[in-house]
Amino acid sequence: MKSYNLCILGFGNVGRALAQHLREKTPELRERYGIEWRLTGVATRRLGWIANPVGLDAAALLDGQILSSKAPALANVREWLAAAQANVLFELTSTDPRTGQPAIDHLRAALEYGAHAITANKGALVHAYLEPRDLAEARGKRFLFEATVMGGAPVFSLFRHSLPAVRLQHFRGLLNSTCNVMIEEMERGKSFEEAVKKAQKLGIAETDPSVDVDGWDATVKFCAIATVLMGVPIKLEEIQREGIRNLSAEMVQQARAGGRPYKLVDQIELLGDGVTAYVRPEQLAPGDPLAAVSGGSMLAHFEMDMIPGLTVTLHVPETGTVGPEVTAYDVMADFIRAVSVS
Ligand SMILES: NC(=O)c1ccc[n+]([C@@H]2O[C@H](COP(=O)([O-])OP(=O)(O)OC[C@H]3O[C@@H](n4cnc5c(N)ncnc54)[C@H](OP(=O)(O)O)[C@@H]3O)[C@@H](O)[C@H]2O)c1
Repeated sequence: MKSYNLCILGFGNVGRALAQHLREKTPELRERYGIEWRLTGVATRRLGWIANPVGLDAAALLDGQILSSKAPALANVREWLAAAQANVLFELTSTDPRTGQPAIDHLRAALEYGAHAITANKGALVHAYLEPRDLAEARGKRFLFEATVMGGAPVFSLFRHSLPAVRLQHFRGLLNSTCNVMIEEMERGKSFEEAVKKAQKLGIAETDPSVDVDGWDATVKFCAIATVLMGVPIKLEEIQREGIRNLSAEMVQQARAGGRPYKLVDQIELLGDGVTAYVRPEQLAPGDPLAAVSGGSMLAHFEMDMIPGLTVTLHVPETGTVGPEVTAYDVMADFIRAVSVS
């Protein structure tokens, strides 16, 4: 049995769901994996840096109780990690897709301190994949990020553990379920504005709908796949990006009636030394694996030198979507992998 000091940085939807999962799965972690844990650090902008190496009361934190500390106030992430004697950092702060900060600094601090670093923050992955990866390797720690893309479908672990030595040559996917739901609304005769409102009502659109409808969310996830799985550290601005703003209800209804529905497609292909990469609405031919995806589901289709085609689908029931509980599961699974997979 090994015991780990866990630090959660960002205690919002995902951070709280993670704490809940850890509590619920405590017996299983102990019995199946020989893992004991205690929460020794929690931090947010509003709470500040809270640490106790003996363990914080996770139930009280989940109840919204502010934990007071007699210890001197901690000034930054490095002091906090040291005070919490961290073995694992969960970096779950809000994503800044333009810079990846401050998550990148947090991950660096954790790895330099000697803790495993786990994140759900796509921004950090897209802007600084190589640095934490190499730092983790040098320190004998793990840098894991399964929750960043297609929550609930472990695509990074699939390649890392089950597809050794393959070369990914072509990727095609539907990585933004919100646009999918909106296009389907328009197929039912709703206007673009009504479709945006519906997605917001379902709680699946970002507060700023342009993140989804202009293709930013899909592009960032896609960038993470290209960088990590293809070894192509492509920049966001190098991806041709077109969202779904120019689609009208008429266009999508006609396309659906003709058996070639529109979807917001991510595609990247290795061509010699370079790549072509785009995110744009496309009409899909019958038989295209992407055409079968509906509602809040997501799909990733991989073509490799050793395997002609492998499709991973995350099936979500009609108008549902992947919520923070699933994201938090990915984060917890990364924790188990970090401490138990060599
Ligand atoms: N929600 C999902 O289903 C989902 C799915 C995939 C990936 N993710 C990713 O998971 C991460 C967390 O998402 P969420 O839904 O839990 O977000 P959230 O509910 O908005 O919570 C974000 C948390 O991060 C804290 N925070 C933000 N900036 C910080 C900073 N500079 N220093 C310290 N704390 C900071 C916030 O603290 P304050 O409240 O005090 O400001 C809050 O506790 C994001 O990167 C998101 O992109 C989420």
